[in-house]
Amino acid sequence: MRKIIVAGNWKMNHCYNEATSFVKELLPQLAGINEAKIEIMIAPSFLFIDQLKKLAQDSTLLIGSQDVSSQAQGAFTGEVSAQMLASINCDFAIIGHSERREYHNESNELIKEKLNKLFEHKIRPIVCIGETDKEREAGITEQVILKQLAGCFANMDLSGHQDVIIAYEPVWAIGTGKTATPEMAEEVHAMIRSWLTSEYGSETAEAIHILYGGSMKANNIESLVSQPNIDGGLIGGASLKVDSYLEMIKIAHKI
Ligand code: PGA
Repeated sequence: MRKIIVAGNWKMNHCYNEATSFVKELLPQLAGINEAKIEIMIAPSFLFIDQLKKLAQDSTLLIGSQDVSSQAQGAFTGEVSAQMLASINCDFAIIGHSERREYHNESNELIKEKLNKLFEHKIRPIVCIGETDKEREAGITEQVILKQLAGCFANMDLSGHQDVIIAYEPVWAIGTGKTATPEMAEEVHAMIRSWLTSEYGSETAEAIHILYGGSMKANNIESLVSQPNIDGGLIGGASLKVDSYLEMIKIAHKI
């Protein structure tokens, strides 16, 4: 049985005081949450991962990064390596987010390199994929998704990495208030699951979590996560306030 994952992607939001107060306010309210059923994650700025990890150390809250370098170490100004993240016990890392793909020209090949670095340092990856509005309108969503999967996971055997998380985030739904309907999202999630089955077999495909992302909020999380192949959400805007994030956690917990 896959757990439900509720993952907050804070993007470039929350400075030190806001980030620490958020976690201090959230933690006591997670007391009744059954960790066998649900995993709760937050990806703050790189700067605050260490501090938030320390605050969350006796809890089930997982703290991760929003990116990682594809390089191991050396002269790469401004980059953060997987080894650095592992040295502060970072729990997970988001890679291939559409904002990285768009503003930093990240390719599937580069994302695959990042994925390898995370595997090397045993940091759980969240690999983001998704089509643009133009691609959906052109009717090529399936081709785009299959190309991203084949590129990001080229020559990799995920049967040894069943904790990898895939986030399907239609680019047109991110930060726009437009959400994919549960049926539209489920169609793509089922396609991703069937690709995983054909590549790695059903045991691995059934173990891997596939999250939906794109304007997920308290008023749509239930209908999305109730779909058979939607295992939770990667949440941007609605994860920035304790109240709305906690409301989503509570709804997911009841599903
Ligand atoms: P959003 O962002 O929930 O604000 O649409 C989701 C994401 O980019 O991961």
